[in-house]
Amino acid sequence: MKVTRGWQRRIKDIFLMSGSRQRSRLKRPLWIILLVTFVIIFLITAFIYPPTTSTACYIFSSRDCTLFNQPSVFAARELSDEETRSHVVIREILKTPPIQSTNPKIAFLFLTTGTLHFEPLWDKFFRGHEDRFSVYVHTSREKPVHTSPYFIGRDIHGETVVWGKIPMIDIERRLLAQSLLDPDNQQFVLLSDSCVPLHNFDYVYNYLMLTNVSFIDCFVDHGPHGTGRYSERMRPEVEKNAFQKGSQWFTMKRQHALVVMADNLYYRKFKNYCKPNMDGRNCYADEHYLPTLFNLIDPGGIANRSVTYVDWSEGKWHPRAFRAQDITFEFLKNLTFIEEDIHFTSDRKKRIISGSCFWNSMKRPCYLFARKFYPETLHKLMTHFSNYTTI
Ligand SMILES: *[C@@H]1O[C@H](CO)[C@@H](O)[C@H](O)[C@H]1NC(C)=O
Ligand SMILES: *[C@@H]1O[C@H](CO)[C@@H](O)[C@H](O)[C@H]1NC(C)=O
Ligand SMILES: *[C@@H]1O[C@H](CO)[C@@H](O)[C@H](O)[C@H]1NC(C)=O
Ligand SMILES: *[C@@H]1O[C@H](CO)[C@@H](O)[C@H](O)[C@H]1NC(C)=O
Repeated sequence: MKVTRGWQRRIKDIFLMSGSRQRSRLKRPLWIILLVTFVIIFLITAFIYPPTTSTACYIFSSRDCTLFNQPSVFAARELSDEETRSHVVIREILKTPPIQSTNPKIAFLFLTTGTLHFEPLWDKFFRGHEDRFSVYVHTSREKPVHTSPYFIGRDIHGETVVWGKIPMIDIERRLLAQSLLDPDNQQFVLLSDSCVPLHNFDYVYNYLMLTNVSFIDCFVDHGPHGTGRYSERMRPEVEKNAFQKGSQWFTMKRQHALVVMADNLYYRKFKNYCKPNMDGRNCYADEHYLPTLFNLIDPGGIANRSVTYVDWSEGKWHPRAFRAQDITFEFLKNLTFIEEDIHFTSDRKKRIISGSCFWNSMKRPCYLFARKFYPETLHKLMTHFSNYTTI
């Protein structure tokens, strides 16, 4: 901005000068020649000294300015070969329009420890919409027992898993890879076994399908549970000011899921240097990798918020988990109407970042799903489901 304003002011000055003092004396053709000369010099200068701010980039250059959008780290230093390769691939994926499926589906990716207690509730949620979703289950501890036909046979197989040993981001990447095999899957939703739906299927389907953004949570927490987890060993690709935080419960459009498949550079940084109990820090890659990656490569393409509600207001290590006595129609209805998104930080002032939720630039309820619910809430949730999910 500063650069442009400076230029504008300078151009104005020149115009004013030529207007007041010289125009009367100069013959018209000479005045035009001067102006044209000035414009040519201006353009040559812009060509020789490429613009280094995003506004200047958009004004002067026909090239892609995406990389200028966010932390100036890209503009400030030369990229390594690997980084260049990575950016070329990612940029190409982001520019390619998604394949038009005649039968677009949402892939629901369930990350569970064992049996999914809320299967009967999800069964109710899915019923009647059979051609518009697919289910994938990754279980990390014990083999689940399925009761709903939508879940039977949907466990993902593959390489042998050492239970509880594979890092969360690897599980997420596995689930994404499996679900990307089906070209009809256009949106990808990560859910846990303590998640429940807050709206009916049609509402969720339209909310996700009719927008261009991925709902990936992303904010800056300057406290010990935010940038305090950052390791200098992630430099230079991930500088401290690029390090973001966010809940792992995402929804992602297909292009973004492909980016996650294609990215090896940032993934490796986080896998190697964002681990619990490392260099005196407890870093959890699943809370930092995706927010940081997408904030770097496509900041305008993510909503910076999650569509999965969770209650951190108690300020404990874990979010509040709801019990059967908490579940009333009014409580559930309240959750479906929340229009403010709240982030609790761990900085000294325990800053709270909040803002309205927007969907395609319109104010809309923030949440499609909610966690964490104890299995004992199932019965009450089933009773109220048809009522609280109607808007
Ligand atoms: C999504 O992006 C395309 C292309 O940029 C645009 O034409 C379309 O209107 C967008 N859709 C929504 C729902 O924002
Ligand atoms: C998300 O945050 C980034 C800055 O961190 C901003 O550039 C982007 O516009 C935000 N996205 C939306 C949808 O507001
Ligand atoms: C629901 O929201 C209303 C208005 O914000 C509040 O007064 C009420 O206590 C809430 N009820 C429950 C059960 O959370
Ligand atoms: C749901 O709503 C219907 C009609 O408004 C009502 O008759 C019924 O009692 C409600 N069920 C529950 C569990 O609140």
